[in-house]
Amino acid sequence: MNFDLTEEQRLLQKTARDFAEKEVLPRAHEIDRDHRHPAELVSRMAELGLLGVAVPEEEGGAGMDHVSYILAMEEVSRACASTGVIMSVNNSLVCDPISRFGTEAQKRQFLAPLAAGQKLGCFALSEPGAGSDAAAQTTTATRRGEEWVLSGTKNWITNGPVADVSVLFAMNDRDKGHRGITAFIVPMDTPGVSCSAPDDKLGIRGSKSCQIFLDDVRLGADAVLGEVGGGFKVAMSTLDGGRIGIAAQAVGIARAALEDALHYAAERTTFGKRIAEHQAIQQKLADMATEIDAARLLTLRAAHQKDRGERYGKAAAMAKLYAADVANRAAREGIQIFGGNGYVTEFPAERHFRDAKITEIYEGTSEIQRLVITNHLLAEIA
Ligand code: CAA
Repeated sequence: MNFDLTEEQRLLQKTARDFAEKEVLPRAHEIDRDHRHPAELVSRMAELGLLGVAVPEEEGGAGMDHVSYILAMEEVSRACASTGVIMSVNNSLVCDPISRFGTEAQKRQFLAPLAAGQKLGCFALSEPGAGSDAAAQTTTATRRGEEWVLSGTKNWITNGPVADVSVLFAMNDRDKGHRGITAFIVPMDTPGVSCSAPDDKLGIRGSKSCQIFLDDVRLGADAVLGEVGGGFKVAMSTLDGGRIGIAAQAVGIARAALEDALHYAAERTTFGKRIAEHQAIQQKLADMATEIDAARLLTLRAAHQKDRGERYGKAAAMAKLYAADVANRAAREGIQIFGGNGYVTEFPAERHFRDAKITEIYEGTSEIQRLVITNHLLAEIA
């Protein structure tokens, strides 16, 4: 087994690390404190090719692989988890399905500007009554002559308030259950589309999410992404890839918790020596480092499988499940190492703790990841 990165992968990792350290990290505290969408960092990510990393060059992207994408995701998320998820949604949940299911015209009109970062995307699947049970869609898509008319409400839509384009799911035939769901590409300035005020969140406060309201939104037949009635498979296969991106985000948050705690432990003294010399602290740091490496390896394996055209749904769910768990444990232990300083906003430890939580929830909760993994295990013995 070869664990070496290619020259190209190393180069992108370095580019992302330099960007994260010099431009993202110095702003992370303020972005979180002010709940601010970091528009200037989104523009810089566009310049660096980070918003369409694995989109082929001929479709307007950077033409790299998914391993490169997750290496960059980890670096950006290590500096700022909010900026990380903005990047992840555009890459994994918007560019990826348009690249896989879009027509040539849809790719020209939507994918090229999204992958170049001239436009930003969001993925509108969840609804007030359809989170984990994604097939329970109540947003309707009704065919009227040549047009589709969409009505309903989408919930917790990351990038929603700042997006130009949405990959959005609606029920066109309730009797068919999940086979009656269709995916659409919806420009956010289409008449009848509106957004709620941004959600007030525990963490990733620089990542804007909201409800999207659809009030008799009229779209042409060319707005359908993939097949009519094929939307649930578009959503599920897209989330398989998205979960690798969120796993990488979780690894980045965990690394931030470890690196900050390590530096703190190397300086802070108690009982006449640096706290890093106390075994209680050493045990924590060693466990954090080991678990982060294991989470990264799972994440790399999932990305590698996707690059090789292999089935990767199980590997992606395992990576997200484990990396989210590691991020939350590392962030909790990070606060413990910082002690009282971990509990105040002057230090970043409490931000990592708040940011880590969402990785156990979005793009499928940890409970849903376990369900997906077990479904794969059962299919393997059927
Ligand atoms: N790829 C392709 N097809 C898939 C698939 C996959 N990964 N998983 C399932 N399918 C297909 C099945 O083969 C089946 O197809 P047939 O019609 O041919 O039989 C169909 O989909 C239905 O499958 P299930 O019976 O397994 O579906 P289900 O209704 O029981 O749901 C589930 C399965 C795994 C629980 C799914 O609902 C799920 O993943 N829920 C979590 C949803 C989620 O992750 N939401 C995140 C929202 S987006 C977000 O968070 C973005 C953000 O803000 C950052």
